[in-house]
Amino acid sequence: MARQWVATDFGGLEVLEFAEVEVPAPSEGEVTIDVRAAGMNPADYKHVASGSDRSILPVPIGYELAGVITAVGPSTQIASGGGAVGDEVLAFRVAGGYTSSITVAAADVFAKPANLSFPEAANLLLAGATASEMLHVTRVAAGDTVLVHGASGAVGVSVIQQAKLLGARVIGTASEKSFSVVARFGAEPVAYGDGLEQRVRQLAPHGIDAALDTVGMDEAVRVSLDLVGDLGRIVTIAAANQAAEHGFRMIGGSMPASAAYRRSIRSQLIRLAADGALVVPVARTFPLSDAIAALELLKGEHPGGKLALIP
Ligand SMILES: NC(=O)c1ccc[n+]([C@@H]2O[C@H](COP(=O)([O-])OP(=O)(O)OC[C@H]3O[C@@H](n4cnc5c(N)ncnc54)[C@H](OP(=O)(O)O)[C@@H]3O)[C@@H](O)[C@H]2O)c1
Repeated sequence: MARQWVATDFGGLEVLEFAEVEVPAPSEGEVTIDVRAAGMNPADYKHVASGSDRSILPVPIGYELAGVITAVGPSTQIASGGGAVGDEVLAFRVAGGYTSSITVAAADVFAKPANLSFPEAANLLLAGATASEMLHVTRVAAGDTVLVHGASGAVGVSVIQQAKLLGARVIGTASEKSFSVVARFGAEPVAYGDGLEQRVRQLAPHGIDAALDTVGMDEAVRVSLDLVGDLGRIVTIAAANQAAEHGFRMIGGSMPASAAYRRSIRSQLIRLAADGALVVPVARTFPLSDAIAALELLKGEHPGGKLALIP
């Protein structure tokens, strides 16, 4: 048996329950993982905020985790090859990462780089793959000047690091208290709010080649549209309606093309993290039983790094 957070209804945090669940023995193509850290993302609570198909309830919460293999299905290898009881691994994308133990598809399980802690490994891939896809769809390359809205957030800092590796210059919006985070990863911070467009024009008089929005506020959309002429070089992960209205790109993990790209990029992101070229800042960990308090922090003021739940 395991303890797992599930949504028993659609709604806010009050619909989440810390349930006792069976952990099935792994069949061929599956492994069982003793979870040491569950990664946390806004999608965890947004996914169950509303819905009408009650047949999917209860919905297990959480898309990524890190832990230790406790059982391997017959004739089964994990995605990075091999895979034995006792191996340290990370898994993404899974259904129900907020748990003490889980049986998942071996194709979504990778060896954990030794230099990453369990909370770091558990938080690498959702934000990392989202950031990678944002850079991919906007064709960011060496020499580009890129504007990142929400550069101090989880996706933002991964975008900065991956854009710098591509050889781009990055200007990132943040509140002043987060400027040091943006600068730490090699981007130039600029305050969001009134006058943003002018401040960006001053920093980049020769123009912005691509705009990547992790925020979804009207200001971010308007400034992106004013500064980047080519709609194919604007992307958002948080402003679906404005993207449809203005004709730029919205991407999301449940869209088939995004899901395929994000699956394909996982090994590369893990290699970058193993080399120390992609860092996951973790702000705080909580016991798994305190998931509600952790989610309240995630929903409220930006915690200054990723959060993880420790069973
Ligand atoms: N579509 C997808 O595939 C996908 C994937 C992952 C995430 N998301 C969504 O993307 C968003 C960001 O996720 P995350 O995990 O990076 O969240 P996060 O770590 O909480 O970061 C949010 C950031 O937004 C910044 N911010 C707040 N108000 C802002 C404003 N008016 N202008 C510019 N920046 C502002 C905050 O910066 P300061 O603290 O400096 O104010 C904070 O760093 C969430 O809405 C999430 O649901 C979508």
